Amino acid sequence: MLKTFSCAAVFAAATLALSAQSAPSFDKDAKVFRLDGGNTSYVFGVNPRGELQQLYWGGRLAAGDQVPAAVPLREAASFDSSYTTTPEEYAGWGSGLFVEPALKVTFANGNRDLVLHYESHQATPNGLDVVLKDIKSYIFVTLHYEMDPTSGILARWATIENREPQPVTLEQAAAAAWALPPAHYSLNYLTGRWAGEWTLTQETLHPGERVIESRRGSTGHQANPWFAIQAGEPSEDHGEVWFGALAWSGSWRITVAQDQLDAIRVTGGFNPFDFGYVLHPGQSLVTPIFYGGYSAHGLGGASRMLHHFEISHVLPHRVGEGDQAAPKPRPVIYNSWEATEFNVTEAGQIALAEKAAALGVDRFVMDDGWFGQRKDDHAGLGDWYVNTQKFPHGLKPLIDRVHALGMDFGLWVEPEMVNPDSDLYRKHPEWVLNFPGRPRSEQRNQLVLNLARPDVRAYILAFLDKLLTENDIAFLKWDYNRNWSEPGWDQLPPAEQKKVYVEFTRNLYQIFAELKKRHPKVELESCSGGGGRVDLGILKYADEVWPSDNTDPFDRLTQQDGFTYAYTPQIMMAWVTDSPHWLNKRNTSLSYRMLSSMQGSLGIGANIAKWSDEEAATAKRLIAAYHQVQPTIVQGDLYRLIAPRNGSEFSATQTVNRDKSQSVVFAFIHSTQEGRTFPRLKLQGLDPAAQYALTPIEGSATKDTPATASGAWWMNHGLDLGEDFRGDFQAAAFRLDKK
Ligand code: DGJ
Repeated sequence: MLKTFSCAAVFAAATLALSAQSAPSFDKDAKVFRLDGGNTSYVFGVNPRGELQQLYWGGRLAAGDQVPAAVPLREAASFDSSYTTTPEEYAGWGSGLFVEPALKVTFANGNRDLVLHYESHQATPNGLDVVLKDIKSYIFVTLHYEMDPTSGILARWATIENREPQPVTLEQAAAAAWALPPAHYSLNYLTGRWAGEWTLTQETLHPGERVIESRRGSTGHQANPWFAIQAGEPSEDHGEVWFGALAWSGSWRITVAQDQLDAIRVTGGFNPFDFGYVLHPGQSLVTPIFYGGYSAHGLGGASRMLHHFEISHVLPHRVGEGDQAAPKPRPVIYNSWEATEFNVTEAGQIALAEKAAALGVDRFVMDDGWFGQRKDDHAGLGDWYVNTQKFPHGLKPLIDRVHALGMDFGLWVEPEMVNPDSDLYRKHPEWVLNFPGRPRSEQRNQLVLNLARPDVRAYILAFLDKLLTENDIAFLKWDYNRNWSEPGWDQLPPAEQKKVYVEFTRNLYQIFAELKKRHPKVELESCSGGGGRVDLGILKYADEVWPSDNTDPFDRLTQQDGFTYAYTPQIMMAWVTDSPHWLNKRNTSLSYRMLSSMQGSLGIGANIAKWSDEEAATAKRLIAAYHQVQPTIVQGDLYRLIAPRNGSEFSATQTVNRDKSQSVVFAFIHSTQEGRTFPRLKLQGLDPAAQYALTPIEGSATKDTPATASGAWWMNHGLDLGEDFRGDFQAAAFRLDKK
């Protein structure tokens, strides 16, 4: 029954088209597959043992270049066998493999040896499927490849199928593994904590394994499923960078390993910690997608590429086709949370809405506190009826007033959670994640509903559908304020209960998809006590994310800097809140706060009922200025001119729109020291031959700065902010428009 790669007929029959520019090609003599897109080529082949071996990932090769056939690495020593040093596309744990496997299984008879060899391949509408099979059993793995022709970003994922007569348990299942040859590399990844997300962590890669992960049931604040590996030291503008992002909002793991021969392997997918997925005969498991990309232009080039890919290929509500597709820039929102916390009332919200409309806000969002017996965080979650003490006539009077003021209306929900003090929990205590007879650990006085259960999924979908059907709601802020504990699912037989790690997240995606189908115009924000659920999986459904509960404008500069390595400013909500800030007790001017938030998708979250006329006028003026240049800021090419990291005294960013007709520059001073002048800003990405007029949005350039100059001038000579731009927490912003 066993088929091997040496069956030439299989290759001949399955040879892929070579014609279309980015169609995958297959060299049937060398047994080499090649995918080209953008400035990138990705190549792998079938080696004489039958393994699928990675051969090349990097800058685009010439059309006629022949990549030599795959040859397994030699046995370096009896301790470093070829089975473990050869970089496989998707290695089963078996034979002599010591590095991270992509797939690890236990068969019904206790056998745990899995050796995956090439079986067949076929072209798909957007790429290529390659089928692997265990050398003895009927475990099949289909590796899916889709290369974006514009960016060269490659989507990879796997379908694992059990065609054995007995069940098998998957103990580890990656989406993909990426390989790089021995060299000196640095690793970039994002770490953090609540109110301190998005720290860009940079380190030299050494032998051993760096594990980036979440074991928490959701994406997590502590690490984000993104990595970038740079040849040599980290550089914003220069050098080769290989990056990847995993599209999964449940427990995940990315391991970056440098093996004993200095080669790099990055393996990512479901977190194998406490993992166990039983596949009955005929069943299969589809992994999340692991996207990978390559840039020859440093970390800045890599993030610009990823931003455009997210905008044109991942985010929902895109308008337009292919690479030109993009969602609309986000409405400028007002959110009531920091102003009122749980004290929402009809009169109070209407008063805030009136102030918000006068500032030029587009969308009014009522946050936590409007439902059930929700007076504080001890009660109410799960009871999604309108609190009639706070809203005696339901939500309609507030929504009508918001509409009359020219804004649309958004609402906060936290569907996957329940307070023990709620009608829902009293009725269905069995609905939460728990191990029967064991304690149920509360965090923020709440428990996690087991969304893997069909009845919980049906309940959540039904209440949200009702809410959206009965009320004219344009936007849901979907919150998620704790991690899992005691992740039991006692509805299933003991061996199957760990499926909760997959089914919970799948059901979440399914609810999003169904809501979008039933209410196509409704937009979603993914919030998890700040940035605890941001990844390319949720971004298929979520129009925006809440990066952090920390709205301090100075802290946000560093957070936004880190965030944008992986995610586009289009989705990066940034509220202007009150000063002194509740977290750091720091005083900053409204202008500084506005400019910090204007680097992303702007919102106002302050208690505007207390703002002076002067503050309202400043906000109104800057919101109007922001509206004019917002597409350039949130969807343009982002250049980090000066990073705010590592205690920098200064920072500056610049964005340029796609046709290079407009650019926006932001400059910030943390604290001037020893009278130092703000560095001259050499702009990037402009058309050198075009003329650009400089207009201050806030602040001013030096007196002798030309009103209009060439792109070459702004990029080579640069922009001087001058001697007057000094002090603590200062900010300036400019736009350049092509004449
Ligand atoms: C956490 C969110 O991040 C906040 O913005 C706010 O919505 C609170 N939850 C409400 O409980």
